[in-house]
Amino acid sequence: MIVTSAQATEKISSLNEVQAITEMVHLSFSNCPDERTKFLFKNLIDHLHNFVRETSLTHEEWLASINFLDRFRQEDHYIMVLSDIFGVSTLVDMVSNKKPLNATENTILGPLYTENTQILKNGDSIASEGKGDYFYMSGRILDVQGNPIAGAIMDVWEADQHGVYDIEYPDYNDKPDCRGRFTTGEDGVFAFRAVKPLAYPFTDNGPAKDLLDALHSTKYRPAHLHFKIVAPDYMELVTQLYFKDDQYLEIDTAFAVRQSLIVDPKLITDTSITLARGFKEAKPHHELERDFVLVREQDLIKPTPKA
Ligand SMILES: [Fe+2]
Repeated sequence: MIVTSAQATEKISSLNEVQAITEMVHLSFSNCPDERTKFLFKNLIDHLHNFVRETSLTHEEWLASINFLDRFRQEDHYIMVLSDIFGVSTLVDMVSNKKPLNATENTILGPLYTENTQILKNGDSIASEGKGDYFYMSGRILDVQGNPIAGAIMDVWEADQHGVYDIEYPDYNDKPDCRGRFTTGEDGVFAFRAVKPLAYPFTDNGPAKDLLDALHSTKYRPAHLHFKIVAPDYMELVTQLYFKDDQYLEIDTAFAVRQSLIVDPKLITDTSITLARGFKEAKPHHELERDFVLVREQDLIKPTPKA
């Protein structure tokens, strides 16, 4: 329905000033042709305005928040970090797509994914020598019926033994390390060498870290491996795997841990297996076997979008 300026004036004049401003903003969006967009922005404005009214937000507090957001742009930090530390990234995953129980759960992408990676084949190492303790992972990419998916492209990336990702190093020079890309064959199998990731402190030196400091909030992420898997006709899977007994599982800065994504790698002490798998030194290593289950759009139990 097109709202005329006369109708808007009549409606607003019946409200007190503090309520009227909310209605005025609603009316300014009222001719938007897309009902879902209109619905989202109406709710966003309601929540924002209610927050201001309920907290009696001061001008100084409002300005501090604007300056805080401006710092992200000026200092070139990742806005996604803010979504992660407020739990919004995880919440969106939780409410947007309900998967069948046997499908692998999604969790956050994080700000350190990049397309610049190593194209590898099964058995190769994503990590250069000296990046940490040896870790071997294998598994299959499957559909919800348990059939292997051929042609799935799996990106995996991780922090090294210092809890640092390749792109965070000043001398990175577009040379990927601790990340690689694999493509499955007809059997859906993948296998790679890596290093066992460690928990790492939230090292961002920008506005998000200042905020966590001010709130005395946790600044650690439990150890994890990142995965992004795409395959024709399947929904993209972005997920992470965590390790049992990690002291930060319950207090993850990014609230991204899901019970189904916690794994328990096995320590392999037979160093002949270490060498046979292609590691350079005859040392014990951890091994993990874990499948990933992708869904098609029609497998999802979808919530009805509100409008
Ligand atoms: Fe990470």
